[in-house]
Amino acid sequence: MTVVSSFSASGPAGATASAVCSLSLDPMMMLVCLDLGSRTLAAVKLAGRFGINVLGLDQREAAEVFASKAGQDEKWQSVRWRRHLDVAVIEGCPAHIVCDLQEVIGGGDHVILTGNVLEVEAQPGEPLVYHGGLFRALDPDEQ
Ligand SMILES: Cc1cc2nc3c(=O)[nH]c(=O)nc-3n(C[C@H](O)[C@H](O)[C@H](O)COP(=O)(O)O)c2cc1C
Repeated sequence: MTVVSSFSASGPAGATASAVCSLSLDPMMMLVCLDLGSRTLAAVKLAGRFGINVLGLDQREAAEVFASKAGQDEKWQSVRWRRHLDVAVIEGCPAHIVCDLQEVIGGGDHVILTGNVLEVEAQPGEPLVYHGGLFRALDPDEQ
């Protein structure tokens, strides 16, 4: 599970997103699908850059808050974060990726964002996954 984030003139923005995928190896690119109604989408378009925060097993609460329509202030007050390479990066994630927005492609009620990867950082930690309507561990014994 990820939180796609940005940092624009109005501050940090972020939304929980599962529609996140690698796109190209050379050049290294990612793709993200965001709802046309996502406030984070508007912020990413303004900023021209986005972050992909890969949430850890202990970050279920963040996954829930960022999936809500709470104000961005409330969302970002609920986590530790920093502005890094002009995106909002959530502390304690097993990985984050920073991308320069390349294309915004229509896709029904969502859009497909493609991005050129500027940075990938990873640290040890189990990722949080979403399956069967629940946030859970990859290994069911760890739930
Ligand atoms: C498990 C899960 C996965 C989600 N995946 C996506 C996604 O891939 N793209 C998307 O636009 N919204 C996704 N959402 C919904 C957004 O997180 C939700 O609409 C959020 O309120 C958007 O916030 P924003 O308007 O501040 O950007 C997902 C929600 C959940 C619970």
